[in-house]
Amino acid sequence: MNRRFAGTLFDLAGEVAIVTGSSRGIGRAIALRLAQHGVNVVVSGRKIEAAQTVADEINASPNSGRAVAVACNVTRADDLEALCEAAEAAFGTVSVLVANAAVHIHVGPSAEMSDAVLAKTMDANFMALHRLSQRLLPGMIARGRGRIINLSSIAALFGSGVYHSYTLSKATAIQYVRNLAVEHGVAGIRANSVAPGLTRTDMAAGLIDDPAALARELSRSTIGRIGDPDEIAGAVVFLASDAGGYVNGQTLAVDGGMTIRYD
Ligand SMILES: NC(=O)c1ccc[n+]([C@@H]2O[C@H](COP(=O)([O-])OP(=O)(O)OC[C@H]3O[C@@H](n4cnc5c(N)ncnc54)[C@H](OP(=O)(O)O)[C@@H]3O)[C@@H](O)[C@H]2O)c1
Repeated sequence: MNRRFAGTLFDLAGEVAIVTGSSRGIGRAIALRLAQHGVNVVVSGRKIEAAQTVADEINASPNSGRAVAVACNVTRADDLEALCEAAEAAFGTVSVLVANAAVHIHVGPSAEMSDAVLAKTMDANFMALHRLSQRLLPGMIARGRGRIINLSSIAALFGSGVYHSYTLSKATAIQYVRNLAVEHGVAGIRANSVAPGLTRTDMAAGLIDDPAALARELSRSTIGRIGDPDEIAGAVVFLASDAGGYVNGQTLAVDGGMTIRYD
């Protein structure tokens, strides 16, 4: 590998990352950019073919870290364990966890939010982060260095009359990350959340393809456009690297200024 980031604050050579939900969208961009900075990456998603395509893309670049693809449904505890075992078998101790995979399966009044919807959403959007952190933290602590990066959403920072289960799960994960930051900061572990605003992916297609909804979103933006997955990946590279060495327990809104606009 060509150590082109050697000596910079963004040199991640030798790190090992699991990125859940990295076969497309924001997770894919994160996997590609971490690998570009030297990280050996475990690409995952429910569909192995799509994850393998991303891993192949990474492995085709002689200047990147290496990649393997592992099928993993983050709502299944045994899949998460198998993901960690596969990562360790391929690359050794995992030093960067990016909990990115999420589900957004109900929009409507709280009265219509079923227990099943809430449980599945919490499983994917919060419990997977918790289970993976519990599993990987001992290795990170033994190494004296670890990064836990939770993909949240700016939706978790507001009240919503219709996004109940999604915002509940995302806000819970933000608080969990703060707790980890306090608990393990002195051991060399940094835990942070990235909160994207509207970003061009499959998950956001419903909003992006609806002209009225898109106009509403853009009216809150300070830059007049939605985000690109690479712009979320940039924040993750920052938090994973020494450039973010003094950042712990934070929620970084990457949203084109949507959360600072009042007028
Ligand atoms: N896009 C936005 O505007 C936006 C805004 C705020 C926050 N976010 C957050 O950013 C993160 C990435 O979202 P995205 O927009 O990139 O989503 P996306 O385009 O829908 O991609 C989702 C990724 O996760 C995988 N996935 C879905 N369900 C999974 C499951 N149960 N287990 C494992 N993997 C699963 C998908 O692959 P398979 O289908 O093969 O499993 C895919 O790789 C999420 O946490 C989301 O909440 C996105």
